[in-house]
Amino acid sequence: MSNDVAIVGAGVSRFGKRDDVSYHELFSEAAHEAISGLENVSPDTFEGLWVSAAMPELTVEQAHVGNLGAQILGITPKIVSRVEMACSSGSSSIRNAWAAIKSGMIDTAIVVGVEKMNNNPAMANKGLLYVPDVTFEGIHGITAYSGFALAAKQHMEKYGTTREQLSSVAVKNHSNGAKNPKAQFHSMGEISLEKAMNARMVSEPLNLFDCSPLTDGAAAVVLTRGNKAKEFTDQPIWIKGAGQRVEPSIGVSNMSSITDWKAMRSAVNDAFSMANIKPSDIDVAETHDCFTIAEIIEYEMLGLAKKGEGGKFIEDGESSLSGSTPINTSGGLKAKGHPIGATGVAQIVEITEQLRGQSGDRQVRDAEIGVTHNLSGFATHHVVHVLST
Ligand code: COA
Repeated sequence: MSNDVAIVGAGVSRFGKRDDVSYHELFSEAAHEAISGLENVSPDTFEGLWVSAAMPELTVEQAHVGNLGAQILGITPKIVSRVEMACSSGSSSIRNAWAAIKSGMIDTAIVVGVEKMNNNPAMANKGLLYVPDVTFEGIHGITAYSGFALAAKQHMEKYGTTREQLSSVAVKNHSNGAKNPKAQFHSMGEISLEKAMNARMVSEPLNLFDCSPLTDGAAAVVLTRGNKAKEFTDQPIWIKGAGQRVEPSIGVSNMSSITDWKAMRSAVNDAFSMANIKPSDIDVAETHDCFTIAEIIEYEMLGLAKKGEGGKFIEDGESSLSGSTPINTSGGLKAKGHPIGATGVAQIVEITEQLRGQSGDRQVRDAEIGVTHNLSGFATHHVVHVLST
């Protein structure tokens, strides 16, 4: 128990175009929510601080954001870091805080993920272009959407995945986002399959509704050593398993397969073995649906569907709110939004709220075991966490 790590506080800002707040205020919105419900907190509580931020130099012209986080929070932690691992910066930060607590170095940490992409969309797009290997692949015009478009084409050709199945992921996630008041596309409401299928093309076969948007948003989590959890809350959520694996590749050309992600299989295996769970034990999960095809492949890598049958899994409604394993109840990256550095932290917040029964209209009944999966690059780096009540 003393070596276990608990999540005791979780908060998330409203996602979207946030011209109404500064970078500092966005950070505070999430951090304040994570801390405000806790008992027995003082500035000395936080011995560790991780700030997850992928591109603040480009979008808000601010560097050194780990130290900025300490200033905003008014704390003097013993260990402070800013993490940049592109789209999986948030989950990587949580893993670092978890490891520091497990090692005995610190008792309690706060992790805050923040990104303000719409402050300067042109620079945000530039930042996204820097994620693959710029020298060997970027130079040929490979972007996130064109990389995942290759995966979609291959999955369609190899396994018969259909246009309808891709769009069904968007329809489901927008339906969940319509139930999440903090989602970027909350006010868009539900969308029809026809609307999703006929949207303008971005990178064939991926259209606008196959893509996550550019988002401003922040999320925060407070983690502590198991035997201290009850000092802060009577509803701790436990990190039961954690896995992180990377391909020896930053781009598509060195991956063994773009539709069968070896590194994700290994990360899932590590996390599930540590937690002693199997895929059928998952009550709810947040997975990295940066593009609709990604969520379909993730069903397969999580062991929820056989290889090649991810399309059937969405078509059969298994991942919907009323299905066997609801996925992306928050609206996912597609409809809740994808503020790069905040995403992995926001996934943990959503699962924490689900396991605490705080998810309102999108609550999964009797959820006890939840999983998060966060990736970066062309699915070359994966972080998986297993949470439980
Ligand atoms: N889904 C649905 N609607 C979207 C959308 C998305 N992903 N992105 C933008 N829109 C909507 C906007 O809300 C806006 O609607 P409005 O006219 O009613 O206000 C409209 O489309 C135009 O928005 P704009 O931002 O000008 O679109 P765009 O063509 O410049 O950008 C994408 C669209 C898909 C190219 C952009 O969102 C994008 O780059 N997404 C991928 C981000 C990414 O790669 N992230 C990393 C993943 S690993």
